[in-house]
Amino acid sequence: MRFDSRPSACQTGRVSNVFYAPGKPRAAKVNDLFAAIARRYDLLNDLQSFGLHRRWKRRVAALAAAAPGARALDLCCGTGDIAFALARRGAETTGLDFSEKMLEVAAKRNRTPDPGRQTPNPNFIQGDAQQIPFPDNSFDIVTVGYGLRNLASWERGLDEMFRVARPGARLVVLDFGKPPNALWRGIYFTHLKISVPLIGWLFCGNARAYAYILESLKHYPAQLAVAEKMRGLKLANVRVINLLGGAMAINYGEKPAGNF
Ligand SMILES: C[S@@+](CC[C@H](N)C(=O)[O-])C[C@H]1O[C@@H](n2cnc3c(N)ncnc32)[C@H](O)[C@@H]1O
Repeated sequence: MRFDSRPSACQTGRVSNVFYAPGKPRAAKVNDLFAAIARRYDLLNDLQSFGLHRRWKRRVAALAAAAPGARALDLCCGTGDIAFALARRGAETTGLDFSEKMLEVAAKRNRTPDPGRQTPNPNFIQGDAQQIPFPDNSFDIVTVGYGLRNLASWERGLDEMFRVARPGARLVVLDFGKPPNALWRGIYFTHLKISVPLIGWLFCGNARAYAYILESLKHYPAQLAVAEKMRGLKLANVRVINLLGGAMAINYGEKPAGNF
């Protein structure tokens, strides 16, 4: 469903997952999804998380130790929240996303800088997180927020994050998680199944795009597997920070010094 005249999912009583497809077609479907919701994306994030996503994104920037002199890359940057959080801490920041529409919103925010702030704006570029257009060992910080889950291969995404990170760089991943407690997981998945698409329909006219969150999460092994993969890449100080009982999670690791 998009901003068009077709009946909404709620009107038809059918909430399907037209935006999810395994394998190669995944990228095109995900691109369609974000093109459809880009204008309302920030508002919906605030409504769904009661504004908490802002705090989690600031935490990502703090964990990444963003500071003047650091070079940071934020993958799947969307409308730029994490890129702006990194830049506000003084890092020289690039935000990368493949969605033209999401990048248009980010660029608009760039043109209206926070009053009183002297920090430079991020540089936003269009590109594929699975084939990052930068050489090996380019960045001190590589972040991704709510992005890995959307890739055809989240492992490939992490491999690429590792490749472009310099020895000593911080890799930080924020995404929906899978709560370890079965009762809480059930409540939370019900929220993703019912309330989130309802909010999507009410405020964005698009229930299916928001039903996609649960579908994509079902196919994403979440925080524990990301930590396992980070250990497999031999990252140091690998940590999982569960938020809201694991409903959200931050994965952290550092690329070790060595010959890369
Ligand atoms: C849920 S949004 C997250 C946006 C932002 N990071 C945030 O936390 O609000 C996911 C973003 O990933 C982007 N994306 C998905 N697959 C991508 C890929 N292969 N390469 C680059 N961007 C991608 C989408 O266009 C979308 O903007």
